[in-house]
Order: sequence, then structure tokens, then C-alpha cells
Amino acid sequence: MTAHEWDLTYQRGDPVWDEPPTAPLARLLARHAPPPADVIDVGCGLGSTARWLAERGYRVTGCDFSSRAIALARARTPEALTVRFTTADVTHVPPRLGPFPVALERGVLHSLPQMTDRRHFVAAMARICLPGGLWIHVGASAPTVKTELSQVRGPSRMAEPTFLTLITPHFTVLEIDYAPFGSRSATWQARYAVLRRHTSPGPLTPRLATRPARRSL
Ligand SMILES: C[S@@+](CC[C@H](N)C(=O)[O-])C[C@H]1O[C@@H](n2cnc3c(N)ncnc32)[C@H](O)[C@@H]1O
Repeated sequence: MTAHEWDLTYQRGDPVWDEPPTAPLARLLARHAPPPADVIDVGCGLGSTARWLAERGYRVTGCDFSSRAIALARARTPEALTVRFTTADVTHVPPRLGPFPVALERGVLHSLPQMTDRRHFVAAMARICLPGGLWIHVGASAPTVKTELSQVRGPSRMAEPTFLTLITPHFTVLEIDYAPFGSRSATWQARYAVLRRHTSPGPLTPRLATRPARRSL
């Protein structure tokens, strides 16, 4: 979807996915990136996650290419809360955006149905993260490659092998697990992953990833 199509989505009212982090994401943040970490919320939508982070003492930048979403996010953020909101396409990251030690991304990768766009997005995440920095990802999962679903509207569901092939050129998995996406909207299982950006440029061709560590969320 284009930025304009996302603007129209937000014009129709609050989307079902808009809610602050649920327990699985909160636990990952506490374990891997406690406050006052400097976090960018990539594709922050209406800013619920960004505000939740700021309330807990994180230094927060919220970025979205939908100017409508950013206008609403700003309007909903109390003056006492410091969140830097900015309208930008993360696949063309302007130098003022980062790099960051922690990039949080919930529901952006899974909004891209095409592999080429997903690869561009992952490369952009690698530019946004400092070398050795973390990408905390939440996105719709499929149990097997055969049950994957590439949707133009609604979340594309990716199985673990597809996800690992995508991220391996730039990131190493620290932790990965599965839990419902949210408390209201989620009829699908989400992948919760903590990825560390390689400290040197990735290989030109993705190598096969080894199975990452699992923990109970
Ligand atoms: C499913 S929504 C998730 C919003 C938010 N992360 C949340 O969990 O509530 C996906 C968001 O990603 C944004 N987005 C998609 N592609 C983007 C891009 N290339 N640059 C910046 N934002 C993007 C959309 O505008 C939309 O707000």
C-alpha cells in the first residue's frame, strides 16, 4: 500500500491493530532494551506504542510515511510526553533518522506482500539500526511455508524459513517466539523476534540460517 492508501485507511477511523504493546512485546523490551534506550518506532501509525514507550522513560522517535497517521499521533500525545514524530518513508531513510540502537517494528514488514519490497525494507532496517543494534519485530506468521499468505490488504503471513532467509543478510536472531498479535485484533499468531544487526556488511547471497533460540514469552 502507498502512503496515500494508508492515509485513507487512517481517515476511516481507528484501525483494529492500534493498541499499546501487549505482554509478549513488553517482556521482550524489558529483557533486551530496558529504558532509557533510544528507540525508533518504525511505521508507528497512531503512536500508541511510541507513547507507551515514552511513558516508561524511553527516548522515542515515531516515524511513519502516512502524514495523516503522524498528524493524529501528534494530536494524541500529551504535551508532557516527549515523542519526536516524523513523516518519512523508512525505505528512503533521511540522515536525520538515526542510526538507532533499537528499532521497533510492529506490523510493517507484514504489510508488504512482495519479496522485493520486503528485501528493501529489511535493508532499510539495517540502515536504521546501529551496527550491533537491535530490531524488535512483531508480524503475522504462518505455521509452514505451504500456509503462507501474501495479502495486498491485511497482514501477509510468513513462515519462519521465509523470514529467516529475508533477515539473515543483515541480522542475527537473538530470540524468536510466537504469541497472539494483540489483545483485540489478533486472530492470527504473531512472530516476536529480537534481531541483532551484523557489525560488518552482510553476505551478497543469504546463507541458510540456523534455528534460533526460543524462550517462552
Ligand atoms: C499495520 S500498520 C502498524 C502501525 C503500528 N506499528 C502499530 O502497531 O499500531 C503499518 C504502518 O506502517 C506504515 N508504513 C508502511 N510502509 C512504510 C514505510 N515505507 N515507511 C514508513 N511507514 C510505513 C503505514 O503507514 C502504517 O501506519
